[in-house]
Amino acid sequence: MNEIAGEVGAAYMPAPIYTRQLELRPLRTDDAQQIADYFQDWDVVKQTVSVPFPYDERSALTWIARVRRRTEAGSQYVFALDRRSDQEMVGSVALTRGTDTSRAELGYWLGKPHWGFGYASEAVRTMSEFGIGSLGLSHIDAAVFRENQASARVLEKAGFKKGRNVVRRYPDRGGKRHVIEYSLEAI
Ligand SMILES: CC(C)(COP(=O)(O)OP(=O)(O)OC[C@H]1O[C@@H](n2cnc3c(N)ncnc32)[C@H](O)[C@@H]1OP(=O)(O)O)[C@@H](O)C(=O)NCCC(=O)NCCS
Repeated sequence: MNEIAGEVGAAYMPAPIYTRQLELRPLRTDDAQQIADYFQDWDVVKQTVSVPFPYDERSALTWIARVRRRTEAGSQYVFALDRRSDQEMVGSVALTRGTDTSRAELGYWLGKPHWGFGYASEAVRTMSEFGIGSLGLSHIDAAVFRENQASARVLEKAGFKKGRNVVRRYPDRGGKRHVIEYSLEAI
């Protein structure tokens, strides 16, 4: 399984992880402009629950700094996804621990030009292995808006089990939305 390496202050940053098409690596401040470019597209943002819109480079720098603090505290791990063939950053994947620290919530997104190449499937599988194998999580949880069939498919292919279908209110995402919960249990 993957080791956590690279000391940062009192805490640790994850070492890069390689899949067939991707390198998963910690975010860098020089990712900010690329992230902002991807989040100009409402089709990407609208499927997330917490990305602000509109979004600019300053928003990305604020997020990268927050992620760094949370990683140092051991509460959040976020990897940028670099395509190995040309080192282009195509998206990111994240695990955020809950108040029950044996569980974490999985999140992910790709810039729209990069949809449909299997990148999310590789990232979700690998992040799940990292969460269970390296972070020692017992469960990884995820939630998708009901109409986000590509995301549901990615989770199901990675072994996540479908849970409740719930209605939640997201003021920045059009109000009441149907959400499907998913969970992966460590075995
Ligand atoms: C969801 C998202 C991450 C998927 O990324 P991706 O790299 O295109 O996903 P993959 O190529 O690995 O896999 C997508 C799967 O969904 C399938 N799929 C795509 N569109 C679909 C649709 N409309 N209905 C059903 N299945 C669909 C694909 O065929 C593929 O399955 P397959 O491998 O069995 O053929 C990407 O579309 C995205 O970033 N969307 C915006 C942000 C988002 O939704 N984040 C997740 C929030 S829960």
